[in-house]
Amino acid sequence: MKKLASHVAFPGNDIMRTELKPICELVRACGLFIKDIDREHLHVDAKSGRADLVTQYDRQVQERLRKGLLEIMPDAHFVGEEGSTQAFAPVGKFFIVDPIDGTTNFIKDYHCSSISVALVIDNAAELGVIYNPYTDEMFYAQRGQGAFCNGKRLHVSSVPLENGIVVFGTAPYHEELNEKTFQLAYAYFRNALDIRRSGSAALDLCTIAAGRAELFFELALAPWDHAAGALIVTEAGGLVSDYDGHPLAYDRPCSILARNQVSTPL
Ligand code: IPD
Ligand code: CA
Ligand code: CA
Repeated sequence: MKKLASHVAFPGNDIMRTELKPICELVRACGLFIKDIDREHLHVDAKSGRADLVTQYDRQVQERLRKGLLEIMPDAHFVGEEGSTQAFAPVGKFFIVDPIDGTTNFIKDYHCSSISVALVIDNAAELGVIYNPYTDEMFYAQRGQGAFCNGKRLHVSSVPLENGIVVFGTAPYHEELNEKTFQLAYAYFRNALDIRRSGSAALDLCTIAAGRAELFFELALAPWDHAAGALIVTEAGGLVSDYDGHPLAYDRPCSILARNQVSTPL
């Protein structure tokens, strides 16, 4: 397995550092794998609807992560997007994993997808790791120890909404939210510099954490879409909740609002 660049520094106490580093190495190996697949033999299946797609690579990466993560932490449970995994419970150690966040981009070879792994212990996110293989950016955070990208500390921006970029997700698997999503996107477009839609919620959260944009919203996200990225945003000094200001749920889909400290939501 290719090792992480030596400039990637790991924060925190020794126990967590011991786990964070191999998790990052595993996640990076999975990222490099999806970057280099055989596109001629890509099999695409629909799941809950026409736009909700899965490939054999989503499943293969999930299995590789399941095995690797449970070797690193054998007493943990594993929850992943691609089925046949355990149910989340508020007590215990849970890996919450999206093997490929941005599957539609991956199918289209659009070069904007990521691997996302969170470790949630007793309902609180402890570790978050997101890797973008196309930019070779490894985002990671440990609760209370800050957020980093390739060893460099991350900070949300201090730019207000009117001078900011707003990133949003279309909640593509929830048709009932289409109209509200685009009404909100229009309102943000009128109140900010511009809006963006990337196709990977995990990377959207890293974008806020890195101070490259000011506010992200999506009206429905699954736990594997937000668990790692939300920790990375809060450790970078940002604010994260659902759209009504409540904590995010790990056992069901919920809305999300992630922002810097000065961008007031609409
Ligand atoms: C999706 C992406 C997308 C977001 C969707 C997610 P997937 O994840 O994060 O940006 O808008 O809500 O479901 O299906 O590509 O893993
Ligand atoms: Ca996802
Ligand atoms: Ca996925």
